[in-house]
Amino acid sequence: MTAEITPLIAGNWKMNGTSVALAEVRNLAARLAEGGPPRCTIVICPPATLLERLSEFAAPAGIVTGGQDCHPALSGAHTGDISAQMLADAGAQYTIVGHSERRTNHRETDELVRLKALAAMAANLIPIICVGETEADRDAGRAESVVASQLAGSIPDEWAGQGIVIAYEPVWAIGTGRTPTAADIEQMHNAIRRDLVTRFGDRGAATRILYGGSMKPSNAAEILRIENVNGGLVGGASLLANDFHAIISAV
Ligand code: PGA
Repeated sequence: MTAEITPLIAGNWKMNGTSVALAEVRNLAARLAEGGPPRCTIVICPPATLLERLSEFAAPAGIVTGGQDCHPALSGAHTGDISAQMLADAGAQYTIVGHSERRTNHRETDELVRLKALAAMAANLIPIICVGETEADRDAGRAESVVASQLAGSIPDEWAGQGIVIAYEPVWAIGTGRTPTAADIEQMHNAIRRDLVTRFGDRGAATRILYGGSMKPSNAAEILRIENVNGGLVGGASLLANDFHAIISAV
């Protein structure tokens, strides 16, 4: 990891969790209270229905919350959508944008992701902008070029507030139990860092680049040790306090 950047471990609950799941966060808070102060920022992105309740009791435990997506507009006739301002009003400080499940299931383009990131920043949220290649892209040797083009199209030129977070999530590693080799992760994260520095200078050098895709207690320490990996975006393993706490402890 890059020493001067405070790592971030973010849990993405996806469409999982009702009120019962809040007990896991209480459990996590209790475990965090037992240990020393965590060496990372801890974010949980629950379903929107739990955001406000979770934000209220997680804050004293040092856990911040985030949305999983937001609409590019401030408000309006968009049935079923949620705006960045609503997420912030419910206590969120972050929001994921451009997750591969949104890119695939809702045909989200880089341009839409860029507009969502702008909307997030306008509402004082930090967007966690996701990028990542498919297995076909990797097999064809174009993983880096695909990610570079997603970064070019999804990151706004202008940053407001506290900037952005990038999450590199190879699509084929999400929810599959498979992960790239440490060397492949390092190569991609170094490429993303070069890209960010070329485009944004010092701010690019200070931007957190998370790894996501089947991160779990058994591989977290190895992944988090890699240069330019500044934390993780964790799906399945963030649902249980034990697993998520083990990953936080791996920092
Ligand atoms: P996973 O999901 O950890 O379950 O692979 C990661 C993500 O989609 O953010």
